[in-house]
Amino acid sequence: AGVVGRRVQNRGKWRRVVRVLKELEEACETSVGRLKQVVDAMAVEMHAGLASEGGSKLKMLLTYVDNLPDGNEMGTHYALDLGGTNFRVLSIQLQGNRSSILEHDVERLPVPQHLMTSTGNDLFDFIASSLKEFIDKGNDSEVLLGGKRDLGFTFSFPTKQNSISSGVLIKWTKGFSIGDMVGKDVAECLEQAMTSKGLNIRVTALINDTVGTLALGHYHDADTVAAVIIGTGTNACYLERTDAIIKCQGLLTTSGFMVVNMEWGNFWSSHLPRTSYDIDLDCDSSNPNDQGFEKMISGMYLGDIVRRVILRMSQESDIFGLGSSRLSMPFVLTTPLMAEMHEDGSLDLRDVARILKDTLGIPEVSLKTRKLVVRICDVVTRRAARLVAAGILGILKKMGRDGTGGVTGTRSRSDVNMKRTVVAVEGGLYTNYTMFREYLHEAMVEILGEEIAKNVILKVTEDGSGIGAALVAASHSSNYI
Ligand code: GLC
Repeated sequence: AGVVGRRVQNRGKWRRVVRVLKELEEACETSVGRLKQVVDAMAVEMHAGLASEGGSKLKMLLTYVDNLPDGNEMGTHYALDLGGTNFRVLSIQLQGNRSSILEHDVERLPVPQHLMTSTGNDLFDFIASSLKEFIDKGNDSEVLLGGKRDLGFTFSFPTKQNSISSGVLIKWTKGFSIGDMVGKDVAECLEQAMTSKGLNIRVTALINDTVGTLALGHYHDADTVAAVIIGTGTNACYLERTDAIIKCQGLLTTSGFMVVNMEWGNFWSSHLPRTSYDIDLDCDSSNPNDQGFEKMISGMYLGDIVRRVILRMSQESDIFGLGSSRLSMPFVLTTPLMAEMHEDGSLDLRDVARILKDTLGIPEVSLKTRKLVVRICDVVTRRAARLVAAGILGILKKMGRDGTGGVTGTRSRSDVNMKRTVVAVEGGLYTNYTMFREYLHEAMVEILGEEIAKNVILKVTEDGSGIGAALVAASHSSNYI
């Protein structure tokens, strides 16, 4: 009787777990039909955000970058890159002919956790000290002798810019939260910190990481018209005609274009497939009601969504043992670990077992349970990747480069001759997570059709957000002479 009873019990608990899984799958559903609605919603919101200030959750921020580096830039330039998991200091030497980023030197430092929530002074002091150390180690005689250098500052948070070299922080994202910085000019804060360290360096370009990525992408391939980051956070920028930026009438640039930082992490639409886990994650975050798209997509959050699903299942049954307190800790399951479980190729899923044990404190689960964990990772990542695909195609639709022939939405034969369109991509989710990348590409083909999809090329730009900043600084350095 005991054995039969256990079997019945066993069946009962799996039934409950399977129900939770089914609910998750349904709530994360991203059929092509739904994705196309997201594409349309993205394009509509882009229009709205360009039409008036506050016209959309998409801020569509002006960047004042109106010419992208073309390869003629010269000299030694520095860049700082702040905004993800790592902080980077770079120097690059340019020699004025496209193929020649002569040399570039990068130093990566993890951003000390406490600085993300301390004061502006502490943060900028850390940044300027790191730059000073970097310069002291190098052999840039000019800056050591007190000559002036220019610097590109990649600051990957929403800023309202008034010029290429200044901008005020609108709000923090990605877990940063330093109250005294909101509303301040970040370029000015950095210059003050550099001056107090004795550095004679001017911020010639303040840019978002998406803009740096676009700049480097364009430097290597002139068909690059947009850039997407899928890392700790997610965002995109693209080249827009200035006459389409209605909220800023009379904006004139020599090129007739300006790069627009969309801040698409804050995109929202009723067509997005949202689950109860997303709602809980948002409530518990440092920026509730903000960055809804980002919270379904980016590296800061995916692992935590998976953790929440596992937690829920462990409350419904004992397939994960008798409960582990670590499972309730926000962000213990990072996205790289989640990706490792998802991509565990071993027959007995031993990486899954190891990570469940070491990270979540769940020892010795059955193979069936490990497979279930892989399935959860798959559902969460597939949704994220497919939403990014829809987002990218929303941009291309707005630019008239999605092969639909713009206004009528009907496809003609000339679509097959659609212009080659390159989107620069950066961020660990895309570069280090094969399944994510594959799901993204698959969805692009599903939405566009194979023929048209051939014209859309996603190209990885390594260190683009940093090198791109130095390039933009270089191409704008004559502005202040
Ligand atoms: C967040 C920031 C945005 C940045 C993105 C990627 O969404 O708000 O500015 O580009 O993360 O780092």
